[in-house]
Amino acid sequence: MTMTYRRLGRAGVRVSTLSLGSWVTYGNQVDAKAAVEMMAAAFDAGINFFDNAEVYAGGRSETLMGEALRTLQWPRLNYLVSTKFFWGLDRQGEAVNRKDTLNRKYLMQAIDGSLQRFGLEHLDLIYCHRADPHTPIEETVRAMSDIITQGKALYWGTSEWSAGEIRAAWDIAERHHLHKPVVEQPQYHLFHRKRVEQEYARLYDDIGLGLTTWSPLASGLLTGKYQDGVPPGSRASVESYAFLREGLTDARKNAAVAQLAPIAAELGCTLAQMAIAWAAKNPRVSTVITGASRVEQLQQNLGALAVIEKLTPEVLARIDAVALPLAN
Ligand SMILES: NC(=O)c1ccc[n+]([C@@H]2O[C@H](COP(=O)([O-])OP(=O)(O)OC[C@H]3O[C@@H](n4cnc5c(N)ncnc54)[C@H](OP(=O)(O)O)[C@@H]3O)[C@@H](O)[C@H]2O)c1
Repeated sequence: MTMTYRRLGRAGVRVSTLSLGSWVTYGNQVDAKAAVEMMAAAFDAGINFFDNAEVYAGGRSETLMGEALRTLQWPRLNYLVSTKFFWGLDRQGEAVNRKDTLNRKYLMQAIDGSLQRFGLEHLDLIYCHRADPHTPIEETVRAMSDIITQGKALYWGTSEWSAGEIRAAWDIAERHHLHKPVVEQPQYHLFHRKRVEQEYARLYDDIGLGLTTWSPLASGLLTGKYQDGVPPGSRASVESYAFLREGLTDARKNAAVAQLAPIAAELGCTLAQMAIAWAAKNPRVSTVITGASRVEQLQQNLGALAVIEKLTPEVLARIDAVALPLAN
């Protein structure tokens, strides 16, 4: 189970093939002690990239990760931390320029807030968490580039932007000699793949786009745990994430997951390991950002590394036959 590392697209920095994110978990299911335990287990297994966002648990996820990093005392050169901006933390009343935006005023203040919560001098990657149709892309590109020039972050990218928006941002940066976006963070799993496999196809070679993909288990659906409804303690049981319930208990997708189980069994792995390995099998993917509410899940998921080479064209075709008809 040796970790492998891939370049972040055309950027020189290398990220572990599997990485660990904090959405839903930190601040909801995972406290400071568990965060330390999980990040230590991840780091010991070779994970060098930890994903976060300003909006996760209303800023607490960044605070918790920062506390964990101070406890763990790893050399700063040995890990990468990210955050993402868009939704804003102050969404009350007159927060007109501080929510659902990528305007310069918000971004320049958001980076300082994140650095403070993390207790870090710089972040390695920062993302525009969604596209903002109400701010000129040039304004956003200049702000993200300036944050890098100021030394507050090292690389920047986008999350869930269209291919056209990514290309426009890259072109503006190229034209004005600004820091270019190097990475996109899209959803990518067996039931959600068209954007990565089709829409972005031109961007990989043309602009050297890297990918840090999210939700390889479709929030847990691909583990098979939702086949008999919502298990206690699972993500779908967390009240503030009730919006995920309908998708996680989708009868057709759960039936497809049941059909995938024998394939995983033949490979000698769990469904979760097969699904994570499937995402990592795509050479365009720089890192698969995994999630875990318990250290045992993380340990199991790390076993996906050994499954990647078992996904032969024949096995992939069998998986496609089950999952592709339900994928978007
Ligand atoms: N850019 C974006 O817009 C965006 C959006 C979403 C996520 N992300 C990033 O991507 C990361 C990963 O996303 P994700 O957490 O949705 O990934 P995921 O792998 O689809 O789901 C992870 C969740 O599935 C369950 N799980 C994981 N391994 C399991 C196992 N072996 N057996 C049973 N259950 C297991 C756990 O939830 P329970 O135990 O609670 O059921 C865990 O928290 C996030 O932390 C975040 O950093 C980014």
